[in-house]
Amino acid sequence: MNAHAPDGGGPGRIDALSIGELAAFDLSLYHATLLAGRALAAFAPRTGDIAPRAALVRAIHSLVSQAGLLHTRALELRVRPDRLGRPSAEAVEEVTAVLAADDPEQALAWGYALLRELAVLYRTSRDQCAEETTYHDRRLYDLCLGLALEPQQPAAELGLPDVELGAILRGAHRPGPSVTPTGTVPLSPAPCPHRSYPAWAGRVPAIGGATPDPDPSLLDDDTLVYLMRKSIQIEFIATDVPLRSMADFADLPLGFYLDMTRHGHDEMRHTHLLIEEIARLGVDYRQFPYRDPDLYAAMAGQPLDHRMIVLSRTGEDAAIEVFGNAVPRMRAAGYESVGLMFDHVLADEVRHVTYANRWLDHLYGGDELAVEEATARVLRRHNELVDEIGLGDYAKRETDHMAFRGRGKPDLELRALAGFSERDLRRLAGDTV
Ligand SMILES: [Fe+2]
Ligand SMILES: [Fe+2]
Repeated sequence: MNAHAPDGGGPGRIDALSIGELAAFDLSLYHATLLAGRALAAFAPRTGDIAPRAALVRAIHSLVSQAGLLHTRALELRVRPDRLGRPSAEAVEEVTAVLAADDPEQALAWGYALLRELAVLYRTSRDQCAEETTYHDRRLYDLCLGLALEPQQPAAELGLPDVELGAILRGAHRPGPSVTPTGTVPLSPAPCPHRSYPAWAGRVPAIGGATPDPDPSLLDDDTLVYLMRKSIQIEFIATDVPLRSMADFADLPLGFYLDMTRHGHDEMRHTHLLIEEIARLGVDYRQFPYRDPDLYAAMAGQPLDHRMIVLSRTGEDAAIEVFGNAVPRMRAAGYESVGLMFDHVLADEVRHVTYANRWLDHLYGGDELAVEEATARVLRRHNELVDEIGLGDYAKRETDHMAFRGRGKPDLELRALAGFSERDLRRLAGDTV
């Protein structure tokens, strides 16, 4: 049995499979979709322009969400979580070739060729289920079909080159114990120390080239447009880092990949929201000098805890105060839709910090003190990297993130939602612990 549609038997064929055969079929699809989603995620920092990066993020989200559904179903089919096996040799070979070609456009075209094949396969499988099948797989394949079809419409406008899909869906998964929590395998994407910028982006050196930020207490069109254009660059970095981590780290539970793909998808949505709000003020979002290199370079190639501490636990965490204070003021100043947009973004940012705190907790075995020590150590290293890369002082961080920094009253309620520990919250409030 392999992941090719169970063909040859006509309608009802899939109903005739035993539980073991059905589990093997779903597991092959699970491994292929997780592996493909992780491989595509390696290209996020290499994809500069808005439309292809949005298409890439949608493809990754679609593939990894399918993997999530198939994983759950496989466990329902009497598969032990430690016996998920591994992807087929053909799937690993094909994904390795996609990564080795190191061509973002080809990778994107390959991803969409795969989604088209998956749509055919799910449709066939769904149609082969009897209306009231005892296995209730019809609904699973219908959900997966929806996920496979959803990103295809917008991607069609990109005119992607035709690529041949190989054997990723034809090989049978390799049964046996899972070598990683999800059964996925380590990948070797080419190093990517710097991200790609959009073709239209004007670039300035990280030090000395950027215009000083306007006074954020001045709530006028110019200030808001400046802040929103700058935010687009930040959204790019925040899209790339979690997605790249999916490709770089194989040893995490499935929840990690689901969180990271959701994180990247949110940041892409924020990019679109910012573009819309800037356009609403009658301005071209592309007229903004990007700092080059940017913060991505300080996280690329670093261990996972380093990336999550710099990007989310301390970086996106800082946005909680900024947005929390700015949103009511924006709305009071008559910028209703900009304020509403940032209010939604704030909810997402709180969740992104939760992801980091959750996976840091996992990496450090629930030891709050160890996470705190890691935070200080990583931020010291971050500040060194900022100097080594030449990012400028704007990119440096206070190494004791939880220390009260006289920045006004911290929002402890939002911090609690964002997964900070009781100890963190007491320190944030200025208590000595
Ligand atoms: Fe964002
Ligand atoms: Fe975020």
